[in-house]
Amino acid sequence: MTTAARNTPRKPEPCCFVIFGATGDLTHRLVIPALYNLAESGLLPEQFCLVGIVRKQMSEDDLRQSLMEGLKKHATRPVKTEIADKVLNCLTCVEADPSDPSSFDTLSKACERLETRTGTCGNRLFYLAVPPTAFAPIAEQLGRVGLLREINGTWRRLVVEKPFGTDLASARALNARLLKIANEHQIYRIDHYLGKETVQNILVLRFANGMFEPIWNRNHIDHIQITVDEKLSVGHRGSFYDATGALRDMVPNHLFQLLSLVTMEPPRRFEAHAVRSEKAEVLAAIQTQTPEEALRNSVRGQYYAGQVGDEAIVDYRNTPNVEPNSTTETYAALKLTIDNWRWAGVPFYLRTGKALGLKRTEVAIKFKQAPFAMFRCTPVDQLSHNYLVIGIEPAEGITMQFNTKVPGPTISIDGVEMKFRYKDYFHAAPSTGYETLIYDCMTGDNILFQRADGVEAGWQAVQPFLDAWKKAGANGLVGYKAGSEGPREADKLLARDGNQWRKLT
Ligand code: BG6
Repeated sequence: MTTAARNTPRKPEPCCFVIFGATGDLTHRLVIPALYNLAESGLLPEQFCLVGIVRKQMSEDDLRQSLMEGLKKHATRPVKTEIADKVLNCLTCVEADPSDPSSFDTLSKACERLETRTGTCGNRLFYLAVPPTAFAPIAEQLGRVGLLREINGTWRRLVVEKPFGTDLASARALNARLLKIANEHQIYRIDHYLGKETVQNILVLRFANGMFEPIWNRNHIDHIQITVDEKLSVGHRGSFYDATGALRDMVPNHLFQLLSLVTMEPPRRFEAHAVRSEKAEVLAAIQTQTPEEALRNSVRGQYYAGQVGDEAIVDYRNTPNVEPNSTTETYAALKLTIDNWRWAGVPFYLRTGKALGLKRTEVAIKFKQAPFAMFRCTPVDQLSHNYLVIGIEPAEGITMQFNTKVPGPTISIDGVEMKFRYKDYFHAAPSTGYETLIYDCMTGDNILFQRADGVEAGWQAVQPFLDAWKKAGANGLVGYKAGSEGPREADKLLARDGNQWRKLT
């Protein structure tokens, strides 16, 4: 039996949805399939138009056909022609390039003409599905021609994909440039982890249940492990990845989203300002490490050839577009602490890597051991660990590990698991994970988007590791075999504190 507080989603207001990077992979793979799913669920506005921005001249028909092919390839549900047509028939193709400012004057006029024709009331959403170096130049051109000015009750929003900066200084600089042109409430910084139901559920688990919050602190929690292990190797992303590495690619964004949701204080209300303030606050409380501490409290690894499932993986350094002597990490493990009353003294262990044996994303909360004293004169020799595990991928759900008596005449104790799996209770239509995010951009709810201070607090916490690793060069970089569990050194990081990673299955 489930008791669901059902809340029928409202249709967004009329809007003109402008995609920069309309010919790109992200648009084909995620944005258009997500818009299709929204249309199928009746969640696109009646007055809606799509503007695909291209850099080189392309006919509307060619763009439409390419997006339709992308939709058929990447759709998460069977594609119904009438719905696909509804989404793509309202497409207009416009050429614009920030290196040619006059193209933005043309874009501005095209938007005005379209708005009059389609009745989208001047509401505009600019989705920047482009490489990060283009975020600020595009936004500045949009600002220059007035396309981001909210006048006469209209809204104008800017959606920016990850990565948001490559370190603290660049993230600050990008925020400063964007905030010169738009207000914070107009900027939607996407982290696709926040589109995942199980990630959103962390807040509900903590704050809609009376039983967890009283024990959610240093008095009862021994430590927390956050794991984002991937089987995927770097593959064709060599040039991006070699300049980025596992830490930048995953930690200040995805892993810190998980960390902040698990550790934040209860927000005053379930609304954007309150939730984002608490998340930023806890990230800002991550203890800043000295260079020596950063080296001691981290492990960086790089994979060498191995086998992941049926796939033979080459040495990372032999990946196309990767430097032959690259010291870029494809695996990172960190130990962090949070300097506040709730979490003082509780270690947080984070790990993420590519080309590992298993795909697994989870947050494991390990509770303090019960005193063993009463079992001392029994055959019981040890208690197993008490974990609460929030499974994000592939198993979406929550698992509780606790001790129980093994049936029989003598006292014997074993660890067992109680599992809640999303799929056993709820039957959600298959989605890309972008629907909620795009819907929220259209309805103006930025609860699931990162605010400038949150982004900067995340970079601030990883900056000591970036600096220490850069200085150390190849020193301290360890190898691990593709298809393995990652470097042994990551086990030692926990063993030093008498802990161990939860076994992934
Ligand atoms: C992206 C990273 O942001 O997230 C990729 O750039 C990574 O390297 C991906 O593979 C992981 O996302 P998910 O949803 O598969 O865990």
